[in-house]
Amino acid sequence: MQTIQPLGWFFLDDEMKHFLSTTDYSRTELQHLLDQSAALKQHPVSDVLAGKTIALMFLNPSLRTRTSFEIASFQLGAHAVVLEPGKGAWGIEFEPGVVMDGDAEEHIVEVAGVLSRYCDAIALRAFPQFKDWSVDREDRVIRSLAQHASVPVINMETIVHPCQELAMMRTIQDHLGEPDQRKLLVTWTWHPRPLNTAVANSALLMASQFGMDITLLIPDEAYRLDPQFMQQAESQAARSGGRIQVSQDIEQAYRDADWVYAKSWGALPLYGQPAQEARLRAPFKHFMVDEAKMALTRNARFSHCLPLRRNVKATDGVMDSNDCVALDEAENRLHTQKALLLELLGGQ
Ligand code: CP
Repeated sequence: MQTIQPLGWFFLDDEMKHFLSTTDYSRTELQHLLDQSAALKQHPVSDVLAGKTIALMFLNPSLRTRTSFEIASFQLGAHAVVLEPGKGAWGIEFEPGVVMDGDAEEHIVEVAGVLSRYCDAIALRAFPQFKDWSVDREDRVIRSLAQHASVPVINMETIVHPCQELAMMRTIQDHLGEPDQRKLLVTWTWHPRPLNTAVANSALLMASQFGMDITLLIPDEAYRLDPQFMQQAESQAARSGGRIQVSQDIEQAYRDADWVYAKSWGALPLYGQPAQEARLRAPFKHFMVDEAKMALTRNARFSHCLPLRRNVKATDGVMDSNDCVALDEAENRLHTQKALLLELLGGQ
């Protein structure tokens, strides 16, 4: 089965590569992963990574990411070890040069070094701390792991979610074919808590690499995404022939959309101030995706990274309709992460 052999595109320059952000890769390289994932969907089980190991480190909960990475590893013949620092494993300090007299029992320097001796790759989920965005926006936790690891590091969600991006674009291509110039609506939705901006950042980053005509629908200027992601997406769109516009007009944003992608996130100017943010967010429950809004689109598909609170972010009617492809996207986490593992663990 030649189609599922690693092509080594991620190692063309013989340099070890991490998978921290899709922006480190070209559209051609990302499309290669997406093509490989389609082949792997047809041939799900093999021993192409027999004897390989990966550590999956979760600082935060997960259903899809953990399950899909564990099963992807198993179905390719590799072994995945799940670690939950602070629960089943020692708590980790990530800051350099600190006096470690708090809760953390060991430092990322040793954790990265030890796991690099045991494993062929290390994957990490480390959500932001939701205290100070000027700190969290630097993504220091995963960058410190990548700095001290001598094997590839995979981002399982920090302030971006590149694995979700792969699944999102695989699903778009499965349903729409070529994504160029197709209208993608990324809509903010209300949620009881201010959530991570990672998936929204990532949706913009990936869709802009692939030439999509993107509308970011927000209820207030405070819900704009961080300029580092807005600007990166805009420059990628300029190169790919895509477009990005920001709208607060629900009807205009939904009209003629080909794809509706929903996500909740907190207002960055009120980061670390949940009570104030809740007051700003309170009037915007009507951003929930419902049948009337979907009727404005060009028979758009609806998707979401999941988990999703029904009748808060999207109605039962939307979730249970034939246009909802959130489960297809969740399934594609498995196929796309297999393609990623194949390249990172088997590509040299
Ligand atoms: N979409 C996603 O990453 O799901 P989990 O948080 O359950 O892993």
